[in-house]
Amino acid sequence: MDLTHKFLNIVLPIASIFLFIFILPLLSVYRLLRFCIRSLFPENLAGKVVLITGASAGIGEHLAYEYAKHGARLALVARREKVLGVVAEKAKELGSPDAIVIKADVSKLEDCKRFVDETINHFGKLDCLINNAGIGKVGLFEDQQCINDQTSVMDINFWGSVNATHFALPYLRKSKGRILVIGSVAGWFNTPKVSVYNASKAAQQSFFETLRLELAPDIGVSIMNLGLVDTYLATNEFIYKTNLDGTPLLSVEGCAKTVVNSMRRGDESLTEPQWMRTVFLWVMLLRELMNVILRVLAKKRKCELENQKSHSTGSLQQHSDFKHD
Ligand SMILES: NC(=O)c1ccc[n+]([C@@H]2O[C@H](COP(=O)([O-])OP(=O)(O)OC[C@H]3O[C@@H](n4cnc5c(N)ncnc54)[C@H](OP(=O)(O)O)[C@@H]3O)[C@@H](O)[C@H]2O)c1
Repeated sequence: MDLTHKFLNIVLPIASIFLFIFILPLLSVYRLLRFCIRSLFPENLAGKVVLITGASAGIGEHLAYEYAKHGARLALVARREKVLGVVAEKAKELGSPDAIVIKADVSKLEDCKRFVDETINHFGKLDCLINNAGIGKVGLFEDQQCINDQTSVMDINFWGSVNATHFALPYLRKSKGRILVIGSVAGWFNTPKVSVYNASKAAQQSFFETLRLELAPDIGVSIMNLGLVDTYLATNEFIYKTNLDGTPLLSVEGCAKTVVNSMRRGDESLTEPQWMRTVFLWVMLLRELMNVILRVLAKKRKCELENQKSHSTGSLQQHSDFKHD
């Protein structure tokens, strides 16, 4: 047994290099052709029923507007009903034939069942579920006073999307529909001070990659890996504390447009901005170097924050929720 592993340890890396040299160019041509064909014949969204979680703000709100422009019917879910109402009205003005509002908390199992049921009761079907609702909390793991404060991140970002998917699956199977997951490059690019957020996005990625295999070909699963987007979640404080200042932000409108175009092409995954794919190679192939860079940046930021703290009356809290109220 051990001998087999020793053999594979040596042979597989060498064989893989040769296989990659042959397979990658062919795969690239196939991907390019598929992209061209799907761009020429994108999915028509008119009349399609799309359920969006976390539609009261940020990416979810702007996805609602993009889908509305294409004539989709919308079920908009979040905790702030009044704000959702405003989004629904704007979506109708932009071209959605019908948009309903459902007040719900995705971290509650019963709420997930209810918003799927209400969507079906109203529209009679579901074509697309968008798992977008998410929050994050910033702070060194070691400094957390109460670890329970962090469980909501997993409950909303991971379990919220898993639960909603569970209840939506029978209807998505009927419509041969699609699940869209708003993921993050944080799932593999692990900047310090957001350990649980990063873990929630990695878990989400892994879960839906697996689900794609189980549900194909009836239900499509698309995972969007986004960099920093200009929303309430990515506040200046969050960006500063996680050493991401200087990283260009995506506009939320542009991001929503790119995501919907990608969905219409039926892409299984998308990394936006595209240059983050190069960073992925750096993280995978030069992990030690990346870790040194991230550690040096974190140390520098820690000193700056300590200096600020000693000069101020504590306007920056040790760890704070980077989601808006
Ligand atoms: N902004 C970025 O840089 C970035 C980058 C990559 C990925 N993402 C992902 O994009 C998604 C959306 O984030 P965003 O940037 O648009 O943040 P945002 O502007 O803060 O919006 C978050 C949305 O999620 C909803 N939400 C939060 N907790 C909820 C709960 N328990 N139940 C139902 N809805 C809930 C919020 O509505 P209510 O408060 O009304 O409930 C709001 O509509 C998240 O999954 C995030 O991880 C964001």
